[in-house]
Amino acid sequence: MDVLEAIKGRRSIRRFKDAPIPASFLSLLENSLLEAPSAGNLQSRRFYFVFRGETGRQIARAAYHQDFIQEAPLAVVCCVNLKIASHYGERGRSLYCLQDVAASIENLMLVAYALGLGTVWVGSFDEKEVSRILNLPDHIRPVAIVPVGYPDENPPSPGRVGREHAISHIR
Ligand SMILES: Cc1cc2nc3c(=O)[nH]c(=O)nc-3n(C[C@H](O)[C@H](O)[C@H](O)COP(=O)(O)O)c2cc1C
Repeated sequence: MDVLEAIKGRRSIRRFKDAPIPASFLSLLENSLLEAPSAGNLQSRRFYFVFRGETGRQIARAAYHQDFIQEAPLAVVCCVNLKIASHYGERGRSLYCLQDVAASIENLMLVAYALGLGTVWVGSFDEKEVSRILNLPDHIRPVAIVPVGYPDENPPSPGRVGREHAISHIR
């Protein structure tokens, strides 16, 4: 699948089939996270692959009962690494590391879609609770949870603003 098709066709998926992700796909998903650009190539990010089970259930609860998280065979908890980010001081900690992880997340979602998998970017969760569940050190801050699995729905696009609202050409 070409990248234009993936960008156009990807949708947030919140219903998943009860089917595992093939092991060969897991390494492609991992590569997609690692290959994303990052500030100074410092890669101030860390990912935890949580497979369906008790930890996934706890994470779904910490995400205010977004129960589709525990229905997916995999949830990727995407974190920034504040220790690495400190290389660039306050800008590193408050901005670059978030961009580093966001670039990885978009890669992950597009590669998952190209493999026939569905994802959704979940930002609404209790950070402290997710950190406690995964026993994360203080310098690792969870910023998104991405459930991954075979889609059991085919939602329409929710639409986008017209380009005049979002894009300006300056010449
Ligand atoms: C930063 C961010 C946080 C989000 N948080 C949630 C969330 O907590 N729960 C959820 O169901 N979807 C969440 N979404 C998904 C958006 O609702 C979704 O991307 C948007 O409605 C556009 O739909 P599409 O992804 O199908 O194009 C989030 C997306 C982003 C980028």
